[in-house]
Amino acid sequence: MNTLNTPTRKPDLPPGPAAHLWGLNHLQAMKPDYLGFVQGLQRAHPDIAHVRVFTEHITHVFHPDWVRAILVDQAAHLIRWERATEVFSISMGQSVLVTEGAKWQRQRRMLQPGFTPKRVAGYAELMVSAAQQALDALTAQDPGQSVNMDELMTDMTLDVILRALFGSHQVTHARPVSEAIQTLSHSGISEMFKPFSWPLWMPLPAVRKVRHARSTLNNIIQQHIQTQQSNAHDDGQDLLTMLRLARDPEHPDQGLSAQELHDQTMVMFQAGHETSATAMTWWSGLIARHPEVAERIHAEVDTVLQGQAPTPSTLQQLPWLQASLKEAMRLYPPAAVLMTRRACQPISVGPWTVPQGHLIAFTPYVIQRDARWFEAPDAFRPERFLPGAPDIPRGTWLAFGTGPRVCIGQHFAMLEMGLIAAMMLQRFKLQWPAGAAWPAGDLAVTLRPATPIRLHLQPRGPR
Ligand code: HEM
Repeated sequence: MNTLNTPTRKPDLPPGPAAHLWGLNHLQAMKPDYLGFVQGLQRAHPDIAHVRVFTEHITHVFHPDWVRAILVDQAAHLIRWERATEVFSISMGQSVLVTEGAKWQRQRRMLQPGFTPKRVAGYAELMVSAAQQALDALTAQDPGQSVNMDELMTDMTLDVILRALFGSHQVTHARPVSEAIQTLSHSGISEMFKPFSWPLWMPLPAVRKVRHARSTLNNIIQQHIQTQQSNAHDDGQDLLTMLRLARDPEHPDQGLSAQELHDQTMVMFQAGHETSATAMTWWSGLIARHPEVAERIHAEVDTVLQGQAPTPSTLQQLPWLQASLKEAMRLYPPAAVLMTRRACQPISVGPWTVPQGHLIAFTPYVIQRDARWFEAPDAFRPERFLPGAPDIPRGTWLAFGTGPRVCIGQHFAMLEMGLIAAMMLQRFKLQWPAGAAWPAGDLAVTLRPATPIRLHLQPRGPR
């Protein structure tokens, strides 16, 4: 039975589907296909919807003005859903992703200077050399072979974050690190549907897997922190040196504690590559499926770069390339669902008031496919993001979130993705294998293709 159009009983709450068996009906619909559930909710209630699951009241906000009114204007009255931060802190400790209040403000103040566009431009060279190495290896392969794009993009972005964090690259780390991160990501999403997590010492196979993944990452980070400390060089450009030297502008004598340094490194590691890899995987598939878009980017890249490696400033002269990345992240935002927030005070949303204690959910995947803001919302049309195109209403493109908790790594990610994309299209034509089906999305912590995107990479020859 479709319950989505059934009104709730409480007149003071936004409309929403009725909860049966204390909301078990919703939970059952959400668990196998969370995004499908939220899409159905939005079709029935385009701007805002209220859902009750057991003791929780969850308000889903879809109207972009209201998204901003909450995440930008009333951010100080929100915290992140405790269950989500609990799950994330299993792997990321008390990092900037999960802390709240004064602790979060202090951490964000200290990290922010390391992520300005100017500062991240300093990583362009290492990003280019990571991409070059991976693409050289591909050039040596048989062009008839199809390439698993998720693996390729994961290897490249992992290489980038390892070099950016530690200033050196240790190939031996890459595979165990990406496996550990995927384990934590998959267990993360399923844990969120449970009321609690087993302690890490429990001798259960799933817990053992998480424990192993966590200690793989912990050991690598600890090793690098110790190596850096014993070398005691303070002149490095890497993120770890930046974190070690970071001082609170309001208390210049204070730096990050040893535990904070470890936790922030861990979050950069995890948040900093899987998201970009996912975005690039979908992007590559979309480019292969849309040769007319690919042609424009090939032409632009050839004309502007003239065979040279891209730089932060030449990337600015590639509007089709930049627009294609934004459009890919509109259709497939890696963070398809933002972390749900809890109202610490009553929150005003248009004519409604979300009472204190209720949860508020934001789903970029659904908001970014709303036909009211994006004509033909399911079509890949990068021209929407070209300079001179009609303005896109604020609050409708949320791939990096919005408000004070917007992604700290957004400039890093856009630079990294732009450089990799440009270099890839300089060298290869991306071809979709005849007869292959377009994959559905699989929501772990990020939205990945449910079946691998495999492409033929046709070398383009010198130009
Ligand atoms: C395409 C790549 C990326 C995407 C789509 C992405 C997306 C996001 C989103 C949507 C949020 C906000 C979540 C919310 O409001 O609930 C976020 C937060 C965050 N991201 Fe990213 N991210 C990307 C790359 C990166 C990179 C490269 C780094 C670091 C090197 C990074 C570090 C963080 C951190 C630390 C936060 C938490 C910020 C805070 O709460 O103050 N991200 N990211």
